[in-house]
Amino acid sequence: MSTIRPPATIGIIGGGQLGKMLSQAAKRLGYRTIILDPAAACPAAGVCDEHLVARFDDPIALAAMGSAADVITYEFENVASAPLLQLAKETAVYPDPRILHTLCHRTREKTALRKLGVKTADFIPIDDPSQLAGAVDQLGLPAILKVSEGGYDGKGQQLLSCKSDLASVSLAAHHTLEAYISFSKEISVICARNIEGEISSFPVTENIHRNYILYMSIAPARLPEETAQRAVEIAEQVVEGLAGVGAFGIEMFLQPDGEILVNEIAPRVHNSGHYTIEACHLSQFEQHIRAICGLPPGDNRLHRPAVMVNILGEGKRPAARLAGIPDLMRIPEVNLHLYGKEEVRPGRKMGHLTALADSLPLALERAGAAHRLLRWEDD
Ligand SMILES: Nc1ncnc2c1ncn2[C@@H]1O[C@H](COP(=O)(O)OP(=O)(O)OP(=O)(O)O)[C@@H](O)[C@H]1O
Ligand SMILES: [Mg+2]
Repeated sequence: MSTIRPPATIGIIGGGQLGKMLSQAAKRLGYRTIILDPAAACPAAGVCDEHLVARFDDPIALAAMGSAADVITYEFENVASAPLLQLAKETAVYPDPRILHTLCHRTREKTALRKLGVKTADFIPIDDPSQLAGAVDQLGLPAILKVSEGGYDGKGQQLLSCKSDLASVSLAAHHTLEAYISFSKEISVICARNIEGEISSFPVTENIHRNYILYMSIAPARLPEETAQRAVEIAEQVVEGLAGVGAFGIEMFLQPDGEILVNEIAPRVHNSGHYTIEACHLSQFEQHIRAICGLPPGDNRLHRPAVMVNILGEGKRPAARLAGIPDLMRIPEVNLHLYGKEEVRPGRKMGHLTALADSLPLALERAGAAHRLLRWEDD
């Protein structure tokens, strides 16, 4: 397959913050972008050449994207794979929608990982509420019950600590019961593979979650070199094994005994890779665009220690402004990214900040100080 050269058109399904940053990276390289997103004011709306305002599975909009775009990608995994499989008959769609079909369902995803020889938490599919009690007996407690499809930021997850928790469980959809992992760290690797099969990974990131939502990513992860190397090897084994094209976020649990389990795989750029914009020669967004256009991966080494903190919404406000920005801007080497989402909702990812420094302790200090300055005020 030949290289897709600028000014070719890249279609991006989803116009949230990831779609926005992908579009910005594509446009910097001289590509045209078309976004499909039902929200007229979505974050990517202002940074694309064309915006199709329609549902993600709208057949007319998808066909329009198919005829206008040279290659199509997506910014999130909760997009239906069936219409994308159809679309892929005419226009290249990366990652392959068959991979999306596997990864958007937790039982299918973990089964595929195990087939690739990768370790995961033990799991049992729950297709019928009557299976839960037996599955809990088999797996033991604590365990986490996760909706098999459509969850993100911990939505659709229920922690089962003791037998009495089973009484309050809601099981309207298919679920996957997972053994609870007492990890020592959560880590991730952004790994990209291009059309030609060239593979490259960014350094391992250490991730801290609060209420199941990513709060902070620290790069490089504070790990022995050998553990970091193993994490990269596992990530590359997964992406190679799937024959994926594009950037993938591989989330892992590091156990106290040094064993690494894969938690989940995002067939897309990933929140824990935002630090690459400032801290690496090349961002995960450009790496993804290069991969799907058949261009070589570049130099993705980290040139400064970096700490990224997500800026989440607080309280439900139809309109709000962030206070503290000028003070934040006085802190050296801190960059603020606001996604331009109109409505602030509790836990909604409204933006992020990245702090760089000569040393990781100083980057952590700067990120913490910057984040503490910010608060939402009613407009
Ligand atoms: N089996 C587990 N044992 C312990 N903690 C877990 C387990 N599964 C998930 N968690 C915790 O919950 C967080 C979110 O879980 P997971 O990544 O599976 O869900 P998600 O809703 O798909 O999140 P996202 O898509 O935002 O990464 C994990 O990063 C981890 O902190
Ligand atoms: Mg996750």
